[in-house]
Amino acid sequence: MKAVRVNEYGGPEVMKIEDIAQPAPASDEVLVEVYASGVNPVDWVIRSGANESLRSFLTLPMTLGWDAAGVVVEAGSEVTYLKPGDQVYGVPNFPGDGSYAEYCVGKATQFAIKPRSLDFTQAAGVPLAALTAWTGIFAHGDLQPGQRILIQGASGGVGSFAVQFAKSKGAYVIGMASADNVNYVKQLGADEVIDYKTQQFESVLRDIDVVLEASPTRNNRERVKAVAVLKEGGTFVSVNTDFPFNDELMEAGKAKKVKVALAANQPQQEWLKEIAELIDAGKVQVLINKVFPLEQVADAHRASETWHVKGRLVLNIKKISITA
Ligand SMILES: NC(=O)c1ccc[n+]([C@@H]2O[C@H](COP(=O)([O-])OP(=O)(O)OC[C@H]3O[C@@H](n4cnc5c(N)ncnc54)[C@H](OP(=O)(O)O)[C@@H]3O)[C@@H](O)[C@H]2O)c1
Repeated sequence: MKAVRVNEYGGPEVMKIEDIAQPAPASDEVLVEVYASGVNPVDWVIRSGANESLRSFLTLPMTLGWDAAGVVVEAGSEVTYLKPGDQVYGVPNFPGDGSYAEYCVGKATQFAIKPRSLDFTQAAGVPLAALTAWTGIFAHGDLQPGQRILIQGASGGVGSFAVQFAKSKGAYVIGMASADNVNYVKQLGADEVIDYKTQQFESVLRDIDVVLEASPTRNNRERVKAVAVLKEGGTFVSVNTDFPFNDELMEAGKAKKVKVALAANQPQQEWLKEIAELIDAGKVQVLINKVFPLEQVADAHRASETWHVKGRLVLNIKKISITA
């Protein structure tokens, strides 16, 4: 099968399309024929060698991509919910070989039937970013109807799902984005949008229940400002797990009596099912910014590396995108 392989860490040019053996599923895994793969920042972070702690879990050569939509071709003996022929979306095992390939394997519990209203290309843009948003605002933030949430990076992949999930839960949503994306974030359902380049959010907000840091900012001083806008008992959640909290942030959290949490996405089948329902009910939209053929994977990475893509980037692997 064809796969985008990384034999050495480096720039986009280190990715090569190679012919490798098709993987075989373990008893609790599914083998998926990949029709399309989402492209996420973690892909180029790993391609570049990541940080020391993540690198220790990586093995070269490897196939990138942890966002798949396709068709199950084989299910391991212990798999009950999925079967060959099912049209699925989900997350291959991280950080093992991923979805920039004609076939991938992953724990069956990390896949679910894809939203019926999306084609494979659209569906491939959903799992990783959506699961990260879900983990952040619900598993860690415990967001409740009527609560006020501030979403930083609201126009991004994770942030745009977070805005829509929070609205569907009945929360009051304040998004942060740059000026060009203010209207986009409002269209997603945000009640207010702050242009982070011209407005200081900490001067205009207070008594927030949950702050979700889904921007690429890796700065504990900025996090302390976010903690300051929370109400007592509130929660600050960052999805930037590679950038730990420092003492200043921990002290600020303690003084304000708020919870602080780092949220690594949890690839749970139940959540993928709920997300598919929201999408099929028209409550959550998926904006695809650009679809690249596999041969142009380097361009897809260059686009993602700008940190300013509105909507999702997708690699089309099967070439034909079929609606269910
Ligand atoms: N924990 C996990 O499992 C997990 C999973 C996925 C992603 N992540 C992390 O989540 C973050 C967002 O990822 P993503 O896939 O949503 O990325 P993305 O699609 O590239 O979106 C990034 C967003 O951040 C905004 N932004 C860029 N520079 C900014 C700055 N200096 N200050 C404030 N906002 C800025 C951009 O908004 P404008 O264009 O409007 O400026 C953009 O919409 C990344 O840090 C990523 O590493 C974590």
